[in-house]
Amino acid sequence: MRVHVADHPLITHKLTVLRDVNTPSPIFRALVEELMTLLAYEGTRGVRVEPVDIVTPVSPTKGVRIADPKPLIVPILRAGLGMLEGMVKLLPSAEVGFLGMARDEETLEPTTYAERLPDDLSDRQCFVLDPMLATGGSLTAAIEFLLKRGATDVTAICILAAPEGLAAVEKALHGREVTVVLGAVDERLDEHGFIVPGLGDAGDRLYGTV
Ligand code: PRP
Repeated sequence: MRVHVADHPLITHKLTVLRDVNTPSPIFRALVEELMTLLAYEGTRGVRVEPVDIVTPVSPTKGVRIADPKPLIVPILRAGLGMLEGMVKLLPSAEVGFLGMARDEETLEPTTYAERLPDDLSDRQCFVLDPMLATGGSLTAAIEFLLKRGATDVTAICILAAPEGLAAVEKALHGREVTVVLGAVDERLDEHGFIVPGLGDAGDRLYGTV
């Protein structure tokens, strides 16, 4: 597993406002989208492209376009939905599949309650979006899901991670080729499975408490 922590003052600045308990939902939502766009720049360094011939107003030249099959973006509901717009802005030709997962508040085990993905993901480049990597259970389950359908090239983009969760994902994936791009790695998990210092419950801060 390759882990890349995006280190940029704009990301750190926006993360600081995102973490602040006094930041209201509308600003929180806008910041998640903006952070996603910045992380997408890092996360798509390996996006597959193919050569294309074009003509500028001055002369013919060669360039690239996003290769077929188009990449698949998979936001993990709910909180990953807040990152989707930021990602499709940079990768408008990508397709979008959905995975709904919720973590049991007691056991911290994730359950999958919704799935809308292509049956066959062979040769598809997949980008999984979830703002929080806490115990790592949700991300592991999501990546396993994609690998079982044939995906061989998976990049996960998360805003925050706990070191324990990152280690757990790495262990569970047994050396399979996955890239994780992060805005920051925080100190630790608390006894309730929350990232410390973190930003609280991203789903609740984006969409309110269900
Ligand atoms: C949160 C978060 C991740 C998951 C991380 O979702 O958005 O999906 O928990 O925790 P883990 O690494 O320990 O699995 P939650 O289950 O709260 O659902 P929500 O997005 O609907 O709020």
